Amino acid sequence: MDIRPRRNRKSSAIRSLVEETHLKTSDFIFPLFLLEGSNDRVEVESMPGIYRLGLDHMLKEIESCLKLGIKAFDVFPVVSESYKDQEATNSYNTDFFYHKALKRIKEEFPEAAIMTDVALDPYSSDGHDGIVKDGKILNDETLEVLGKQALSQARCGIDIIGPSDMMDGRVGYIREVLDDNGFTEVSIMSYTAKYASAFYGPFRDALDSAPKSGDKKTYQMNPANQREALIEADLDVDEGADFLMVKPALAYLDVIKLLKDNYAQPIAAYNVSGEYAMLKAAAEKGWLDYDRVMAETLLSIKRAGADIILTYHAKEFAQL
Ligand code: PBG
Repeated sequence: MDIRPRRNRKSSAIRSLVEETHLKTSDFIFPLFLLEGSNDRVEVESMPGIYRLGLDHMLKEIESCLKLGIKAFDVFPVVSESYKDQEATNSYNTDFFYHKALKRIKEEFPEAAIMTDVALDPYSSDGHDGIVKDGKILNDETLEVLGKQALSQARCGIDIIGPSDMMDGRVGYIREVLDDNGFTEVSIMSYTAKYASAFYGPFRDALDSAPKSGDKKTYQMNPANQREALIEADLDVDEGADFLMVKPALAYLDVIKLLKDNYAQPIAAYNVSGEYAMLKAAAEKGWLDYDRVMAETLLSIKRAGADIILTYHAKEFAQL
């Protein structure tokens, strides 16, 4: 035999020389759940190890993550039912507890990259990402609210706006609203290929944001489709997205690869709540070696082509 691939695997030193993919703590964006008030800390039942945090706890968490080398955070609000309405008005209320907390976070940690979600579901009494009328999700009417929401977040000093709503035309609409108001430096990370996935279940538990009726299939993508992601990505690029995201990550590694091969924009992947929960559940039963499957999972997402990974494993991985 002239060629023996095992020669390049014969020792740890050789293996590390030929290693093709490397994970760094600076690859990660760590999603965090904000509770109103400052001192509460409540674990998400379906996401062991992940907590809904009051502001004081969140500030401490961000500080400890920064020390570990995690530099970017995606902050989601836990909104109680009494603050929700059909127009999701608190999504753009700069006096809302979420907006005040965002300002405080940016004041404390100007060096951190803070990202926020743009979609109506946490603030909507219907639990949908858009405005609902007669059982339909209205596209163009929703854009107006999304624009106000993005602007309100930019006013808090947010670095990256993440439209996760999947309305048509929202990236361009938000870009224009931001630019018209002088926020030309605020970035947009579009949830480009966001699938109608059952893997979001634990996140909806964490935020209490599940749709009250129907599902999200008229706006989120069909899990059966790959080429449709190219249509979404073309639009997002034309409309000015700075980053393209694929979500979920694990069941959609082919889509990550497809976007990586076709676009020069940085590609992000969201390793979602259900993907995290699967590993935790199996580890709790003693069925999997958690640290190893976590590293292997994150590696697979990066190897598929993700430059950036949004993941609930970020802190645990950094601690390893
Ligand atoms: C809101 C939003 C969702 C997630 C991120 N932003 C849920 C959904 O669209 O239903 C899911 C994140 C996760 O599961 O970790 N639109």
